[in-house]
Amino acid sequence: MNKILKTLCLAALMATATTTAQAVEAQHTFEVGKGSFMLDGKPFVVKAAEVHYPRIPRPYWEHRIKMCKALGMNTLCLYVFWNIHEQREGEYDFTGQNDVAEFCRLAQKNGMFVIVRPGPYVCAEWEMGGLPWWLLKKKDIKLRERDPYFMERVRLFEKEVGKQLSSLTVENGGPIIMVQVENEYGSYGIDKPYVSKIRDIVKQSGFDKVALFQCDWSSNFINNGLDDLTWTMNFGTGANIDEQFRRLKQLRPEAPLMCSEFWSGWFDKWGARHETRPADDMVAGIDEMLSKGISFSLYMTHGGTSFGHWAGANSPGFAPDVTSYDYDAPINEWGLPTGKYWILRQTMAKYNDGKKLPSVPKAPMGIVAIPQFELTDYAPLYAGISKTEESRNVKTMEELDMGWGSMVYQTTLPAIAANTVLNINDAHDFAQVYVDGKYVGKIDRVKNEKSLLLPASAKGAKLTIVIEAMGRINFGRAIKDFKGITQSVTLTSEVDGHEQIIDLKNWTIATLPDDYATAQEALQNKSVNSNLSTLTSQSGYYRGTFNLKKVGDTFLNTEAFGKGQVYVNGHAIGRFWSIGPQQTLYVPGCWLKKGKNEVVVLDVVGPKGKPTMFGQTTPELDKLNLEKSNKHNNPGDRPDLNSATPVAQGTFAAGNGWQTVKFGAVAKGRYVAIECRSTHAADQAAIAEIYVKGTDGNRLSREPWTVKYADSENEMGNHTGDKVFDLQESTYWQTQRGSDFPHLLVIDLGSEQQMTALDYLPRAEQGAPGNVKEYQVYIY
Ligand code: GLA
Ligand code: CA
Repeated sequence: MNKILKTLCLAALMATATTTAQAVEAQHTFEVGKGSFMLDGKPFVVKAAEVHYPRIPRPYWEHRIKMCKALGMNTLCLYVFWNIHEQREGEYDFTGQNDVAEFCRLAQKNGMFVIVRPGPYVCAEWEMGGLPWWLLKKKDIKLRERDPYFMERVRLFEKEVGKQLSSLTVENGGPIIMVQVENEYGSYGIDKPYVSKIRDIVKQSGFDKVALFQCDWSSNFINNGLDDLTWTMNFGTGANIDEQFRRLKQLRPEAPLMCSEFWSGWFDKWGARHETRPADDMVAGIDEMLSKGISFSLYMTHGGTSFGHWAGANSPGFAPDVTSYDYDAPINEWGLPTGKYWILRQTMAKYNDGKKLPSVPKAPMGIVAIPQFELTDYAPLYAGISKTEESRNVKTMEELDMGWGSMVYQTTLPAIAANTVLNINDAHDFAQVYVDGKYVGKIDRVKNEKSLLLPASAKGAKLTIVIEAMGRINFGRAIKDFKGITQSVTLTSEVDGHEQIIDLKNWTIATLPDDYATAQEALQNKSVNSNLSTLTSQSGYYRGTFNLKKVGDTFLNTEAFGKGQVYVNGHAIGRFWSIGPQQTLYVPGCWLKKGKNEVVVLDVVGPKGKPTMFGQTTPELDKLNLEKSNKHNNPGDRPDLNSATPVAQGTFAAGNGWQTVKFGAVAKGRYVAIECRSTHAADQAAIAEIYVKGTDGNRLSREPWTVKYADSENEMGNHTGDKVFDLQESTYWQTQRGSDFPHLLVIDLGSEQQMTALDYLPRAEQGAPGNVKEYQVYIY
């Protein structure tokens, strides 16, 4: 929008006893000009630091803002997280840790502008991408579409956001210079009428004068790009920057350029290695953008922590995010400058109009160690049951009106013959199965598990399924992520050579909320009478205390425990899981005190040995403890393509961007095998994304996809085969250095499909390193 926004500032209305006529706050105008943003009529480069207020303990907000300022940033960029503000329908909370207006005022106090991204959807590796779970109580709801109920709740929420923040726009004398409409809608769908509606709601909420913008990827931004909004691009460290802006420059030659999310690092998921991105690439990217006058927001500049149950999950598949949101960002999870910070600061200093950067503030607190202590107080899991219901069919967690925690399902089994399989359709997310109280096994959604073998038993045995929910999916179409058991539980067995299926009915269903109050009650009321009391498991609530002479930040080691949640002095600290890679939880010193401190652990699996903990002075974010490696090169999985005929073969072009390979005829099969015979440059082959098209020319859904085989995968950098369908253009499958060509990647589509073409995307970096040259595609 090139409309000039003439703005006037209001005086800070201060009428205290000592000051009658306080100095008027700095008056600014901010406009989207031709070729650049304009601040007070002069070209202005936005240098924004992405930081998320719920991921930083409130007492540390100002320190982190000062850290960003000392890095040379002039703006803070933040999402508004709907689901922390409206945890129950219609009950809004913008106080304390949720006081986003106060965060903006602190920014202004420190001479920083603010970009606000009020969603409603925010992605951000945050539970359900910021949408409230209770929307799912309407089972047929269409999220991020013009569903009347969804739109009404959005409208009401944005109105509340307006009440908090619209008086803080630059036109009203505040720090907010831009407001974002929706978030990367292109990776969800094509729906301009919906995005337009969100724009209108945002405008009607009090953001009618401030500059509005949209962000998306260069490969899809026009799908939902509205004519009257500013368009900005998201891409990661290392990306070919000119290429990222090429289309925008063609379509809108006079638009200011901005990378609205320049990814400094990346997020971690449970069961995979800690992600990092090279500092030099990040700094080179920022340097290049600044030298060309391109505005940016560095996502994340300080990631912080997804405390409590707020971490989300990615899809396709189910890949829950860890608690730490360190992101390999320049300011680490606990607020200190990293090596990346110092070298970035040097570059930022070159673009500070000859002025010296402010000095780097000292951390608000030091770091302390806590000697090992035992959590001696114990209550079994069933002591935390808050609600029980009898039902013919299984119900989801949402149907029992609970947002987070675990569900327990119990029924009576018929006689179970040998080789009977229990199927949970589907278990969201981590199910543990017991027969007559005895542990039988687990069904883990992360591993795409759906069933297990039951032991033979006489009629009348009790089947108990305990299911812990992890974060709701925050990316892609799968954000409609019900928890508990989503449909049914069946038994399959063979009777006289025929498959027999029994749909299990008549359930006792109970809820185990994930909150501190429940944990406390459980530890007081250990002897609640419940059928579950027969579980042979060490799962449950553990409580211990430690003493501090000096308060400081610490990293609580959770390695003695299995899987669950930690509360310190009543604060929900976050999820832990023995598989790693995160093995410690950040505990901010501002939530600790001198003298006695309390730790409560809710462990749904149970500790391996003694339930002990200790605080360390550095975090452990990269220690995996897996049953089996993440690689996909099991020898039996390698197909024999010796006598097979490829459906396509040829040479991919050099350079960045999507390429399409058309098959001569419709190809039918369940597996797509891509053989890479050589590359254009670099000795390691790499592929960022793959799609296949159906007979109607549309891309097939990749939700059911898994990797069947990859002869070589660079697991250290998380460059495993699944990265070619993780919906992220900045992540990629890459072979190991020095491994021999040809390379083979085989994708299992989940079922037989008819296909006509393959879309291929090489890496986004300049020169597309690892770009495949000669290829063959097989379908079988
Ligand atoms: C996208 C989203 C962000 C975040 C990043 C990955 O760009 O817009 O919210 O999820 O990906 O960290
Ligand atoms: Ca990818």
